[in-house]
Amino acid sequence: MKKILITGGAGFVGRYFTKYFLDQKYEVHVVDNIAQYTGAREPNNWPLFMPQDYKNFIFHKQDCRDWFISNFIDDFDYVLHLAAMVGGRMMIEKNPIAVSDDLSIDSHFWQWAVKTKPKKILTFSSSACYPVIFQKKENYKLLSEKLVSFDQPIGVPDLTYGWAKLTSEYLGKIAYENYGIKSVVYRPFSGYGKDQDLSYPFPSICKRILNKKNSKKIQVWGTGDQMRDFIHIEDCIKGVLSTMDKIDDGSPINLSTGKLTSFKEFVKIGCNILGFETEVVGTTDKPEGVFARGGDTKLQNDYGFVTKINFKSGIEEALKFFEKNN
Ligand SMILES: NC(=O)c1ccc[n+]([C@@H]2O[C@H](COP(=O)([O-])OP(=O)(O)OC[C@H]3O[C@@H](n4cnc5c(N)ncnc54)[C@H](O)[C@@H]3O)[C@@H](O)[C@H]2O)c1
Repeated sequence: MKKILITGGAGFVGRYFTKYFLDQKYEVHVVDNIAQYTGAREPNNWPLFMPQDYKNFIFHKQDCRDWFISNFIDDFDYVLHLAAMVGGRMMIEKNPIAVSDDLSIDSHFWQWAVKTKPKKILTFSSSACYPVIFQKKENYKLLSEKLVSFDQPIGVPDLTYGWAKLTSEYLGKIAYENYGIKSVVYRPFSGYGKDQDLSYPFPSICKRILNKKNSKKIQVWGTGDQMRDFIHIEDCIKGVLSTMDKIDDGSPINLSTGKLTSFKEFVKIGCNILGFETEVVGTTDKPEGVFARGGDTKLQNDYGFVTKINFKSGIEEALKFFEKNN
């Protein structure tokens, strides 16, 4: 039986990978401390399936830093490192020191990795590692992987979250060059899904559209003109599964659609699905983040991965789910 470790596996992205590898009959070890302010859920309360129904599910409810110190297991086929203090925009902007925990999580992770030498590591960085200078209203562009490379000057990323992700990417490069540790880095853009934590814009805006059905006005954070590249979680998972054995040297690959949607457009699409029109207005006291964050798709496409789910269908799916599950 193949063996996989998924740190942060009780979070939004991790639950999908856990299901996939359980179904593939891997021995799946999830290490997660169900951290406050994250999208974590206790395994008896996962929204889409019950991991405890699987005999091959092994849950370690522990801070991964402690787990790394006390567990020298050297026969993992894959390690998927997702554990992070993320939260939504509010957390990234208003609680940047809590987010800087990611530096210590990742440093413990790479120290453990060079000792135990897993056959292959997949790490989740973020589109937040890209220089914010290329995401401004006056000169934004689709962000391509080569914009962040350690062989050239590096631009300033998005707050402590972006810095931590950059540092982890750098450690992965060193781990490959100095210790031969094989890894690939994913830079997801705005991954979304119906079971995502409400601190993220996608589920909270969908719920607001439903609760305000037929209202004349709906509010969104910031100006509402800010744009994101929304990628459905199932596309993210497919993107990873179809590329994970193709890169070994710790180099990065985006998970993005290359399409930008503003928060105002997002609400309008949702209202249109429900059959009404509304005025969308911004909320000045809430953070909006960068103006435009979209990912170039050339490299993904070159590796044979193309996203399938368009944003309108993703919104439709979530609205139906929330209507049914209240
Ligand atoms: N969802 C996205 O669109 C997106 C975008 C960019 C990057 N990412 C990255 O993907 C990864 C997963 O994101 P997510 O959306 O599932 O977030 P999430 O908040 O839902 O999950 C993170 C998980 O990490 C766990 N965790 C935090 N600190 C821990 C610790 N010290 N020890 C063990 N577990 C710990 C949390 O309990 C939680 O279950 C993160 O590294 C994140 O930075 C996600």
